[in-house]
Amino acid sequence: MATHSRIIGTGGYLPEKILTNADLEKLVDTSDEWIRDRTGIEQRHIAAEDEHTVDLAEQASRRAMSAAGVNPADIDLIVVATTTSDQVFPSTACLLQSRLDIHGCAAFDIQAVCTGFVYALSVADKFVQTGSAKCALVVGAETFSRIIDWTDRNTCVLFGDGAGAVVLKADQSPGILSTHLHADGDYAKLLHVPSGVSNNYPAVQEGRAFVEMQGSEVFKMAVKKLGSIVDETLQANGLERGDIDWLVPHQANVRIITATAKKLRMSMDRVVMTVAKHGNTSAASIPLALDSAVRSGSIKTGDKMLLEGFGGGFTWGSALVQY
Ligand code: UT7
Repeated sequence: MATHSRIIGTGGYLPEKILTNADLEKLVDTSDEWIRDRTGIEQRHIAAEDEHTVDLAEQASRRAMSAAGVNPADIDLIVVATTTSDQVFPSTACLLQSRLDIHGCAAFDIQAVCTGFVYALSVADKFVQTGSAKCALVVGAETFSRIIDWTDRNTCVLFGDGAGAVVLKADQSPGILSTHLHADGDYAKLLHVPSGVSNNYPAVQEGRAFVEMQGSEVFKMAVKKLGSIVDETLQANGLERGDIDWLVPHQANVRIITATAKKLRMSMDRVVMTVAKHGNTSAASIPLALDSAVRSGSIKTGDKMLLEGFGGGFTWGSALVQY
């Protein structure tokens, strides 16, 4: 019988500090009304100065492992999706591995910005399906506040920090029903941080070490690509629109989420929505949304849910999951 992977536990963590729209009104020329109307965001969490991506990842992972009832010794694969790793190296996954007192298993990071968690879930699922892992910890963790220009109103109102995690276990029944990953690097400049390790001059000299985004261009592509990935996912599984119980989307903008829900002809009470309280936490947003819906009792065992994300690259992807 084929081996599948199942999500057996979820966890999330948000830093204590909350930055409201009213707080942002004091930083840049914006208004609570504009932010709510255009994005649906009311507040976001911001990591403390001495709090790093691995700290957020550790808290979310401990909660996921506790919910799953697994010990550090049970974990045989760690995949962390992040754009904001603590160090150039080692990977955040290796730092996390040490924090959790896990030793010897494969641990690596995945970089697909806001689609990172879907990429990580897909990779971990394939490890489990091929028998290379039996119990994987899959994390999305970000301190996006560190790559934000807090004087740029086009971007600073959108993002927040956080982490979400799931434990994936080998099982005879699915689980992860299918995953679908895409990218098109031709669109890199519409949403990017121009500086990096190998290319840090002149970008850093010019102060371009922060997120730069052509918002409305990104918006249009996000709606288009998320619409097509809904079709692709349904078709690959021989499903109709009504067969999906929950949409667990990347939380960038309530208007993008609504457009995807409309495409699925799904009523908004079946859409997990955390964007108002979390803002856009990039790779952390989908597992954080999933964790909140599981813990509130909305998503129940056996429910079919569609996870989908879109982000820098461009990257986009989906996972159809039976909880
Ligand atoms: O997670 C990765 C993927 N990211 C996304 O999916 C984000 C996609 N983009 C968006 O969510 C939206 O495009 C934004 C929320 C970023 C912007 O909304 P929009 O409806 O596309 O607005 P816009 O960029 O077309 O700007 C409209 C106006 C502009 O003023 P003018 O040129 O019309 O006078 C902006 O300067 O709104 C202005 N504006 C603001 N005003 C107040 C832009 N940012 C702000 C702000 N407060 N924070």
